[in-house]
Amino acid sequence: MTKVALISGASRGIGLAIARRLAADGWSLSLGMREPALPDFADESRTHLQRYDAAEGGEDEWVAAALRRFGRIDAIVANAGLMIGKTVIEAEDEEFDAMLAVNVKAPRRLAKAAFEPLAATGRGRVIVIASLSGKRVKSAKSGLYAMTKFAAVALAHGIRQAGFDRGIRATAVCPGFVATDMARPISGRPDAAMTDPGELADVVAMLISLSNTASVAEFAVNCQLEEFF
Ligand SMILES: NC(=O)c1ccc[n+]([C@@H]2O[C@H](COP(=O)([O-])OP(=O)(O)OC[C@H]3O[C@@H](n4cnc5c(N)ncnc54)[C@H](OP(=O)(O)O)[C@@H]3O)[C@@H](O)[C@H]2O)c1
Repeated sequence: MTKVALISGASRGIGLAIARRLAADGWSLSLGMREPALPDFADESRTHLQRYDAAEGGEDEWVAAALRRFGRIDAIVANAGLMIGKTVIEAEDEEFDAMLAVNVKAPRRLAKAAFEPLAATGRGRVIVIASLSGKRVKSAKSGLYAMTKFAAVALAHGIRQAGFDRGIRATAVCPGFVATDMARPISGRPDAAMTDPGELADVVAMLISLSNTASVAEFAVNCQLEEFF
């Protein structure tokens, strides 16, 4: 029986790269997408597509559908994310709520929904794609986003605490600029000067392959020199 991973926001960017890497590694995949479409690299017999909008919920239904299809869940990758580049002074409450819903509340519900199947494997893995904006506030315009990503990092720690005794290991992956649609308009950098999504996928593949006695709580990746990351 191949291992099974759920990945949210697998339509493009980092999520698609993680799906590509795990598919190549032989994983079965359940891909949560707002508009489900089979990626060109995917093997239909090992790929389940779930219509999933993180702002609307439906994590229990997604987990149930994946279990019906594959019978187990070994890893979840909470990747879907929303970035509104506004300062904490400019932003409206609705914009904060929209980012909290996708970046924090939905990943928590997904981990909650998948908790028992993950524990049943004895080595369930949870990856929260957070951000370096979950470690430091680098600019005024990233302030509101950073509030949600600090919470996403805390979520990964909370899952690690809640699941450790049952073999669940959770990691907050904290990238700086990654060459995707999200970073291109704001980074002022060419793709070659940002982290390649494929390399982040390599990081995720490594993290979920580690044993229960090699727990990594946070993993920071940067394309540029900063004081601490
Ligand atoms: N790129 C960076 O520099 C960077 C740095 C640090 C952290 N991150 C984080 O990495 C994650 C992936 O970002 P990315 O760079 O790959 O961005 P991206 O290229 O803009 O892709 C975002 C992905 O999230 C999905 N998504 C957005 N809102 C959703 C919702 N409500 N429900 C379901 N899916 C939704 C998108 O689906 P659609 O195709 O349907 O829009 C897309 O698949 C995010 O959590 C982001 O915050 C990115």
